This record gives sequence, C-alpha cells and structure tokens, in this order.
Amino acid sequence: MEILGLIDLPGWLVGILSFVCTVCLYTWYKQSLFKRLGITSKDTVFFLGDLTEMRQKGFNYIDKKMVDKYGKVFGCFIGNIPSLVISDADMIKQITVKQFTTFADRPSSVQLTERWQSALTVASGDHWRFLRTTLSPTFTAGRMKAMCPYIHKCMATLHEIIADNVKKSPQGFDIVPFIRGYTMDVICSTGFGLEVSAQTTPDNAFIRNSKEFLEFDGLRNPLFLLQVFFPNISKVFPTLLSTNVVSESTLEFFETATKRAFQERKEENSKHNDLLQLMINAHKGEHLEKSGIDNDVIDTGLSVEERKSRGFTDAEILINSMIFMIAGYDTTATTICWMIYDLVTQPGIQDKLIEEIDEKMGRDVPSYENVFKLQYLDMVLQESQRFHPLLGRINRRALEDVEINGVKIPKGMDCAFAPLALHFMPEYWDEPNKFKPERFAPENKGNINEYAYLPFGQGPRNCIGKR
Ligand code: HEM
Repeated sequence: MEILGLIDLPGWLVGILSFVCTVCLYTWYKQSLFKRLGITSKDTVFFLGDLTEMRQKGFNYIDKKMVDKYGKVFGCFIGNIPSLVISDADMIKQITVKQFTTFADRPSSVQLTERWQSALTVASGDHWRFLRTTLSPTFTAGRMKAMCPYIHKCMATLHEIIADNVKKSPQGFDIVPFIRGYTMDVICSTGFGLEVSAQTTPDNAFIRNSKEFLEFDGLRNPLFLLQVFFPNISKVFPTLLSTNVVSESTLEFFETATKRAFQERKEENSKHNDLLQLMINAHKGEHLEKSGIDNDVIDTGLSVEERKSRGFTDAEILINSMIFMIAGYDTTATTICWMIYDLVTQPGIQDKLIEEIDEKMGRDVPSYENVFKLQYLDMVLQESQRFHPLLGRINRRALEDVEINGVKIPKGMDCAFAPLALHFMPEYWDEPNKFKPERFAPENKGNINEYAYLPFGQGPRNCIGKR
C-alpha cells in the first residue's frame, strides 16, 4: 500500500501500525484525564498504569507510599481504568455519608455475569437497598445471642485441636489453618445451620473452594484484561464480555451447599433464626427445592417496595449465601490471625489482656452479654485493625458529576479510599507507628477522626458484618 506517494508498505503492516497508533492515542487520551480535571496524577506507566506494581506489592503498599509523595488526593490508573485515591477524612465523610445517594454504588471495573448483579457487594441502586434491608437483621442482638451455642461448639473443637498440637509440637506450630477452619465452621453453623467440619476434615471442600475464590487472579482472565485496557468495550459488548470471576465448579459447589441447607431447613421444620432463615422467609417461590436453579428472575428497574412484594429470588439466595460465607470467612479469620500475631509479639499487652479476662470473666463461658465487659480486648482489637486493615482499597462510584472540597469528580469515577495510608497519617494519629490500644480507650476515643479509621468502611454501605 502506497502512503502519500512516499512509501510503499504491505497492507498487513499498515493494519498493525494503525492499530498500535489507535491504542496509543486512546491510552494517551484516557491517561490525561486527571490533567484535564486539574487533579494531581501519579506518574503512570503508559498503557499499564500501576498494574505491575499493584500486582507485585498490593494496594496497601503502593497507596501508603503514594500518599506521602502526592498528598491526600491524587489520580492513578490500573491499565486504562482511572481511580481517584482519597485519603482526606472530610472528603470520605462527604462521600460515604453526607452525599451517600451520589456515591451509593461500588464501581465495577469489569462486566460481571447477571447472577453477580444480585450479590450485596455488587448490587446497585434500589436493588442494593432491598437486599441490604432484608439482610441487615442477620446481626440483631437476638440473632447474635442465638449464634452463641454454635460458636461454643466450634470453640470447643478449636480448644481440643490447639491442646493436641501443643502436646505434639511444644516448640510451636502454625495456627493459621486452625483459625481458618474454626471461622468457616462458625460462619456455616451460625448463618446456615450447616455442620461442615472444616476444623477436623483435612482438605475441607469449603476451605478449598473459598481459597479458589479468594485467589482469583483477574490478570489471567483474558476478558478481564481486555476490559482493564479498554474500559468502555464492555458497554459495546456487555453479554460477550461478561465474566463469572470464579470457575463454574466453585459456584456450583456453593450453590449445592446452599440448596442442601435450604432443603434440610424445609424438611426439619425447626425454628432457626439465622441468615438462611431470613432469606427463606423473604423467598416466595419453591424453585430451590428442585434441582434446577431459576437464575433468570433477575430484574431491573423495580423499586424497593416492588421487590419486597416479589420476594427474594433463587438467584439472590444463592449468590448471597456464597458472598456471606466468603466475605465473612476470610476477613474474620485474617483479623483473628493478625490479633494473635500482635499479642505474641507484644507479651506486655497479652499479659494485660489475660488479666482483664481473668478479672472480668473468670471461668464464665463467653456470651453475647459478658464480652461487652472486656473493654481492653475491644481496644486491642481496634488497634490491631488499625495496623492491619484487610481491604487494600474501599471504593465508591460517582453517580453524577459532583465537586467536593474543590475537587471535580466526574460521573462514573472510582473514588478509592486507602485504609492503610489513612491509618498511619500523622495528621490523624498521634505516634501512628506505635501499637497503642489506649488510643481506643473510651476517654480518648473523642480524639479519633472516625473517617480516618476504615477497617469496616463507613456509612450506610459499610460492612454488614461489623457487629
Ligand atoms: C473482621 C471481620 C471483617 C472485616 C475486617 C470486614 C471488612 C469489610 C469492609 C472494609 C467492607 C467494605 C465496606 C465499605 O465499602 O464501606 C465490607 C463489606 C462487606 N462485608 Fe465485611 N468484614 C468483616 C466481616 C464480615 C462478616 C462476618 C460478614 C458476613 C457474614 C461480612 C460481609 C460483608 C458484606 C456482605 C459486605 C458488603 C456490604 C454492602 O455492600 O452492603 N463481613 N467488609
């Protein structure tokens, strides 16, 4: 092919060059977004953004470093997806609480299959409001009291396992798998009445499938990658590009477990008062008892009231059961493990905590009421969560163009809060690098800016399991 009468290039080469030029122009335009908005932007690797560094070191590490360098508000990219990273407590208050309706949803960087739109973590607008209103009573005082006998049972098994391992390996052993098993047993028994024996069965299927879910690597999924580099492409081909995030077999495993629990519940006719029962009470169909899953009852555009009268669908029960099992399991297990680590590495704090437990609880069995007496325990837990926030970023999506504290935020923008960076900012914390449970003592709590402390997020869309 002759170009401007100057050079003659083969057609295939012209095709490749045109494609490369288009991609470069597209990337250049996308990655100049923050400059156009007048927002400080992190130096970005062309096309990749922070993808490589984020993959190698994680958000916690890169955000903490970037806040020191770029300040409390700056832009960055994962591939060509922009994120506005915010570590300003006042802006976080505006976004999570004061202007919640403008930021009620989370962003989704990739197009997910329909079943995911019913997950509490993913759902948007009135659909999310309906799900949250129905599922929130899982953690009322009455239901939490009813969970205690199940927790005691799981705890007894954990004690036996630990005692046994202390005998076998007095020099020390890895406690992490036992805590993971314990947490899974607690979630499944308190939420679903399921005995899954995760503590006592080696290679337990619940633990294995959760691991598969949690270790999902989007960058090995070509559909995911394509949308990271060409964020608008999913609007053009939403069905073609939608991804399930995890394998079919993992989804099937959790769906089968939920159906089993549902079936048992219907047969035994007993009076449970847990998450599954809440969903069953809100469910008006019969489908789950059959083998087929009616996944096509996903709707759009209904109000909260209209959804309430149509009831919980099969799809909503199935996906949210899995979400509760996984979201509750990994976070709680990791929090307990970090706290054990903090106690082991700081024996003075450990001794003080043991003293409090001996004094205030003695040999009583822990109950919903008496754990509230353990004030120092609560302080240590909160400080441990300040040191080790589990989520690298907490995100909200702007549903319209808006300006907050002089920062122009365009519709669709991912607003990402960086918990670890916030938890260590000298502006918000006195001696941030010191492990000081006393900062959470009731008499000092007034000094804490609650929007600079995000272990469970903030506002109406915070963690539903916080209590
Ligand atoms: C120590 C344990 C836990 C930690 C540190 C934790 C942390 C978090 C965080 C940071 C968020 C995001 C909040 C936001 O966007 O503002 C979240 C959301 C969520 N968490 Fe937790 N979580 C824990 C336990 C649990 C438990 C036990 C459950 C359920 C059994 C649970 C279920 C959820 C769900 C469903 C959401 C999404 C809520 C929504 O979008 O409405 N979490 N969690």
